[in-house]
Amino acid sequence: MRLAILGAGGFLGSHLLERLVLDGEHDLRAVDISADKIAGVESARLEVTVADLGASPDLVDDFVQWSDAVIDLVAVANPSLYVESPLDVFELNFMKNLDVVRSCVEHHTRLIQFSTSEIYGQPTGERYLEDESPLVMGPVSKQRWIYGSAKAMLERVIHAYGLEDRLDYVVFRPFNIIGPRLDYLVPAGTLGGPRVFAHFMSALLTNGPMHLVNGGTVRRCFTHVDDAISGVLATLDDPRANRQAFNLGNPDNETTIRGLAELMVDLYTELTGSHWTNELVDISGEAFYGTGYEDTNRVPPDVAKLRALGWRPDRDLKQTVRDSMRYYL
Ligand code: UGA
Repeated sequence: MRLAILGAGGFLGSHLLERLVLDGEHDLRAVDISADKIAGVESARLEVTVADLGASPDLVDDFVQWSDAVIDLVAVANPSLYVESPLDVFELNFMKNLDVVRSCVEHHTRLIQFSTSEIYGQPTGERYLEDESPLVMGPVSKQRWIYGSAKAMLERVIHAYGLEDRLDYVVFRPFNIIGPRLDYLVPAGTLGGPRVFAHFMSALLTNGPMHLVNGGTVRRCFTHVDDAISGVLATLDDPRANRQAFNLGNPDNETTIRGLAELMVDLYTELTGSHWTNELVDISGEAFYGTGYEDTNRVPPDVAKLRALGWRPDRDLKQTVRDSMRYYL
């Protein structure tokens, strides 16, 4: 198969590309504005392009026309940015991705689209179910929700093209996937910026404080990146996946954010023999991210759909966090 990976230089893209190159089964083209995270990934069947797809619309068509399937990972996925630059989030996560969707429709190319767990918004049940759970966004005045809203609208457009028989697709909704190359580290005491794992890792490495936003009581399911990539690959050749959305997360790895902090502190001692001696500091969402932030207490994903294709996430929470920490250490 000819596969084009848009956004291949990001966290998930770099892991996906690495695995596809290792499997050696496909012809690959990869594109991103930076190729730093895929610098060591090489193959005679891989062509890497460093370019801004947003600034060169013809390039999108070029990749789509060449491919049997396009894997679209172009996005920002960092809550700080939703609060700071909501219009940029809309432009990239909706408008740019819409160009990709339309190009796939025009050239009859299959689309594998990365969406987000955030489209569910505030939970209304025990589990998020792909085809049943309502999408409950917060108020417009809390601009954090522009990200989930943009991704949800993109999914609705993709679904509608599928209904008209004009697009074959698979959609993934990732749940807090972590691993090597996730995010950048920050100086001690930084507010906002990267996602929670990188903040806590930075605190451990600098012996700085860990901030628990609103007490760290909300829950997330942290998923090992290797398990997530296996989930994506499980759908590649399976016709049952066509025109379906899949939760991509490990429901068994649920913890509170405080629980994640405590686990990382313990693992730091186990891995380094040193002790982190700073403290967990409670902080409001507003003070940490700025006005317009609102949090969500996510429930675990139901992953029966992906399991039915043979997928089994088998890294538990401790291994998932330990493997991610080892990379940064
Ligand atoms: C984000 C994205 O919006 C999702 O689309 C994406 O699926 C997810 O990350 C992901 O990593 O996959 P979120 O889980 O809210 O969603 O992102 P984080 O920045 O990792 O925050 C998780 C929780 O930790 C939030 O409650 C946040 O307020 C809290 N937090 C963050 C802290 O308590 N301390 C920190 O230093 C940073």
